[in-house]
Order: sequence, then C-alpha cells, then structure tokens
Amino acid sequence: MATTGKNKDNANSSTGASKASKSKGSADTEQSIVWIGMDLGTSRTAIACSNGVRESFPSLVGYPKDIISHKMLGTDVLYGKDVIARRLSLNVYRPLEAGVIKGSGDDKNVAADEAEANMTAARQLVKHAIRSANAPADSLVYCVIGAPAEASINNRHALLEAAKEVIDSVIICSEPFSVAYGMNVLTDALVIDIGAGTTDLCRMHGTMPEAEDQVTLDHGGDILDAKLSELLKKSHPEVSFSLQMIVDAKERFSTVRSTSDPILVTWPVNGRPTEIDITNEMKEACFSIIPPIVEALGKLVASFDPEFQEVLRNNVLLGGGGSQIRGLAEAISDYMDEHLGGGQVRQVEEPVFAGANGALLISKDMPPEYWEQLS
Ligand SMILES: Nc1ncnc2c1ncn2[C@@H]1O[C@H](COP(=O)(O)OP(=O)(O)OP(=O)(O)O)[C@@H](O)[C@H]1O
Ligand SMILES: [Mg+2]
Repeated sequence: MATTGKNKDNANSSTGASKASKSKGSADTEQSIVWIGMDLGTSRTAIACSNGVRESFPSLVGYPKDIISHKMLGTDVLYGKDVIARRLSLNVYRPLEAGVIKGSGDDKNVAADEAEANMTAARQLVKHAIRSANAPADSLVYCVIGAPAEASINNRHALLEAAKEVIDSVIICSEPFSVAYGMNVLTDALVIDIGAGTTDLCRMHGTMPEAEDQVTLDHGGDILDAKLSELLKKSHPEVSFSLQMIVDAKERFSTVRSTSDPILVTWPVNGRPTEIDITNEMKEACFSIIPPIVEALGKLVASFDPEFQEVLRNNVLLGGGGSQIRGLAEAISDYMDEHLGGGQVRQVEEPVFAGANGALLISKDMPPEYWEQLS
C-alpha cells in the first residue's frame, strides 16, 4: 500500500498520534500517524483509534431521492442513524453484504451498475468512518480493517479500493482474529463473531491463523431476522410489520432462555395498534443460529491436534452484535455438551467494539514490513 498522506477533510485533535518512522517525502519531514482499528460490518461500522476516538454507526449510506428531498435535507449524502431516520426520502444503500462489498468478488448475481453504486457507497462509508476519527489533515492513517474470515481475494481487493482514498496503509485481517487479539487470547481458544451477514469462527493456537483455522457461516443476524419474520407471518398473518420493526424487536427482546417474561409488541392489525405475544417465535428464531455454529465448532475442534481438543472446546469466546442474545453463551455450552461431549462458552466484554479494539491493537503491534506483506 501507498504510504503517502491523503488529503483528509478534518484537521482537529492529534492527541495519541505518534510520529511516522517511515516519513513521506524527504527524510527530515516527519508525519504523525493515527492508527485506526475498523470493524467494517454488514450492519454496523465501528472504529477505535489511537487518538482515543471510538465511534460506531449503522453501515448505511443514503442519497436524496429527488430535488424536494435534497432541498429538505440540505445535503447530497447521509450516513448511519440519519439514514434510518430519513429513509423515506432517501435511496438507501447497505453496501456490505455477508461482510463484503455487494457485487465484489465472485458474486455474479449483482448487475454491474448496482455493483458500481455499492462500491461508491462503500467508499463513502469508509471515508465517513475515517473522518469520524478526526485525524489531523497532514497525518498518516494506518488502518486495520476486519473482514469475514473467508473473504476472497477479489473481495479484499474491493475493500482496498474502497479504502485507498483515505487510508495510507492498510492490513485486512479476519474479524474473529481481531476479536481474539483484542482480548489477548492468542492460543487455545475458539472465537465466534456473530455479525449481521456472517458468523465467523476462528481457531487460535499461538500463531497467525491460516485458512483451515477459519470458517465463515452465512448464518448471522440477517438470517435470524428473516426467520423471525417468516414465523410471525405464519402465526400472526393479520399483523402488519416491516423488517425494521422485526430488527428493533429482536435487538430489544432476543433470548434463548427457556424461562423469560412474555415478549409483547404493539403492532398494527388493520391499522389498529394491537398487543401481540411473540415469545415462542423469538426463541425459535434465536435458537436457529445455534446448531450451525456448533456444527462448525465441532469441525474446527475435530480437525485439531487431539491432545488440545478439550482445551479448545472449553475456551470458546463469543463476540459480535448477535452475541447479545440473552442466554446465548449458556445455550451454546449446553448444545455442545449434547453434541460435542462438552464445551464452555463466554461472551466478550464489549461485543460491539471488540473487533475494532482488537484491530487497533494489531495496527499498533505490526511492524512496517507486515503492512506490505498483509495488505
Ligand atoms: N441485543 C441483540 N440481540 C440480538 N441481536 C442483536 C442485538 N443487538 C444487535 N444485534 C444484531 O447483531 C447484528 C450486528 O452485529 P455486528 O455489528 O457484529 O455485525 P456486523 O459486524 O455489522 O456484521 P458482519 O460481521 O456480518 O459484517 C445485527 O443483525 C443486529 O441486529
Ligand atoms: Mg462484524
């Protein structure tokens, strides 16, 4: 990657920035570096920066639909929460799908113009994230970006393309690896990162994980939302709801606990707000992500050195937004007991920032030559 400073729009705080060992241009011009760990997720982007900035926002980009919405909003583009709030006036892009830029890589199902539009939105999203870091205009930005464990070479190339306007040096690492690194769990552990588009698993055994240590499953929060929606359409066909209402209910009430208070939502039936009990559907949808995760865990354990299999099974870490389902760690442990002959699972401390925190630590630890090797 290039190591020249980019023309960043913000020029504020420089606290925490250090001087570049590789300086731009002549040997006597030293530039400060701001290190950024970025979890560029399908549903949320989070950054943790060496200047202390931490931000997280929905991975959404919106453009005014017409001249009226443009006049009303007074801007060409909106990001994150503002997109959700103003979505009726916007053409909304969620440019990442299953953790990679839609239409990049080997996906031939996306039309060329749609792929291009998603690429533009992804580029703007990355720019927005970097702007939120408030790096001084003349500093270098070194950024470690978390991507799904099995992102293909083409997907990675698209990420680099999206990043190159605002980032000077980049490392793309696997999401669960950055979570593990941030927790300083570098050996004898299995890390599960439950995102929106994917669930990523990674086996940590004291060295850089390789392809066979990592698995990406399509089962994440999006699939759970689709499942909940399908179950509710069947059991309550009279109720009107949108996908956003499903996501809101899930993020408020998700649980796999067998005992819990009834889960009640007030949704319209023939235009009239009506209280609906969605307890069973919520539990069934939330539980549906457990079997595929345990199956993948089982494969990662079984293909490992037999002497260390038990240690791995008993040190499973759960991160990502989806890990916030109530009772999930215990339920996965129980399911592992039943199907893998034992297992212990615990949740990471900061599910939303765990990936970005870890990526920031990686960025600080990696010597310059690694940036070239890994990017
Ligand atoms: N309390 C909660 N219970 C269940 N799911 C939740 C909760 N809070 C957030 N989620 C879900 O977590 C998912 C987002 O997690 P995360 O931010 O880790 O994903 P991401 O990094 O954007 O996705 P990916 O890693 O797949 O690219 C979404 O599906 C969101 O609805
Ligand atoms: Mg993620």
